[in-house]
Amino acid sequence: MHKVEEAHIIAALQTVMEPDLKKDLVSLGMIRDIRIDEQNKVSFSVVLTTPACPMKKQIEQACIEAIRTYAPLADEVAITMTSKVSSGCGHHDDEQERPMKGVKNIIAVASGKGGVGKSTVAVNLAVSLAETGAKVGLIDADLYGPSIPTMFGIYDAKPEVVNKNLVPIEKYGVKLMSIGFLIETDTAVIWRGPMASSAIKQFITEVEWGDLDYLIFDLPPGTGDIQLTLVQTIPLTEAVIVTTPQDVALADVSKAVSMFRKVHVPILGLIENMSYYELPDGSKDYIFGKSGGEKFAKAQGIAFLGSIPIGREVREGGDSGQPFVIANPGTVTASAMVRSAQETARQISMTNAGISAQSSCSSGCCH
Ligand SMILES: Nc1ncnc2c1ncn2[C@@H]1O[C@H](COP(=O)(O)OP(=O)(O)OP(=O)(O)O)[C@@H](O)[C@H]1O
Ligand SMILES: [Mg+2]
Repeated sequence: MHKVEEAHIIAALQTVMEPDLKKDLVSLGMIRDIRIDEQNKVSFSVVLTTPACPMKKQIEQACIEAIRTYAPLADEVAITMTSKVSSGCGHHDDEQERPMKGVKNIIAVASGKGGVGKSTVAVNLAVSLAETGAKVGLIDADLYGPSIPTMFGIYDAKPEVVNKNLVPIEKYGVKLMSIGFLIETDTAVIWRGPMASSAIKQFITEVEWGDLDYLIFDLPPGTGDIQLTLVQTIPLTEAVIVTTPQDVALADVSKAVSMFRKVHVPILGLIENMSYYELPDGSKDYIFGKSGGEKFAKAQGIAFLGSIPIGREVREGGDSGQPFVIANPGTVTASAMVRSAQETARQISMTNAGISAQSSCSSGCCH
């Protein structure tokens, strides 16, 4: 029997391109552990840059086809699709000095206007990424109106203190920290700018985050001093902007975009929330206008990360402490949220690889 050689497998996989990174899987170092047994059964691993890769299936299929075509002696092919999340925080001058050494990517979820669904998106983004197997943390940076405890259904937990550091509270696979865990719920908090930023700093430096692939910040609304101080204090990698399609929300979102640009925080992309309401017959009612967010993103050269429709289950999930991607999987809203989370992870991987964000993803983000 003719034996398949490792070189044949490598040559075959050199023909498979990573669709976003525009290089072949072998050059990108994504192929590991090639094994060929006596019966020409082939196995290997493909190491993606995020477990939330929306193109996982296509890449796996392309590998199988390439081997069938270029290494036809191979009898069976078993591929393990795995991942090692790339880091956007690794470019600090002095690696030892960098705060949160175990955290690979820090993402702020922000908006210009209040009430557009930042916290809802931040929570469900975190949970969606955690469900893919990624290690995820979420910081409630809204010191005045913390909503993460309610949205996760955590009413009386107090973080433990170990070695003078707070231990985050974990739920639905996400490590959480919020001022709401530390103060009585009905205590009014008056934070002045410097106090607020030092509280947030403590969430970074005095919390046992451990190793995280993604740490998400749910920012308070607006573009005032506090947001500015925060984004300058936090070693942010990128910002995700949330908006509704209305013009007024978009006017405010322009301010948020300018603020991030001014302080050199790259904008990863924009998520449009409350995009439409799907009627029982499947038609869509664009209550707040159509595609305002997508058009805005295009005009600004910002990647469009997806649209989340209006859904009763979204609001109910927030109030009942069960994020809607967990409580109502497979619904129009949950599927849209999962796609936006995949697209967010994809854009992070691309930015980390030095590929700048695309201005739109009209092809549905998946090619
Ligand atoms: N797609 C949606 N469909 C239905 N309800 C939604 C949707 N998105 C958010 N909501 C609801 O809108 C309200 C505001 O959402 P949320 O608290 O996430 O906004 P926010 O931008 O974080 O607000 P704030 O500026 O006060 O921090 C909540 O009651 C939430 O459940
Ligand atoms: Mg909020």
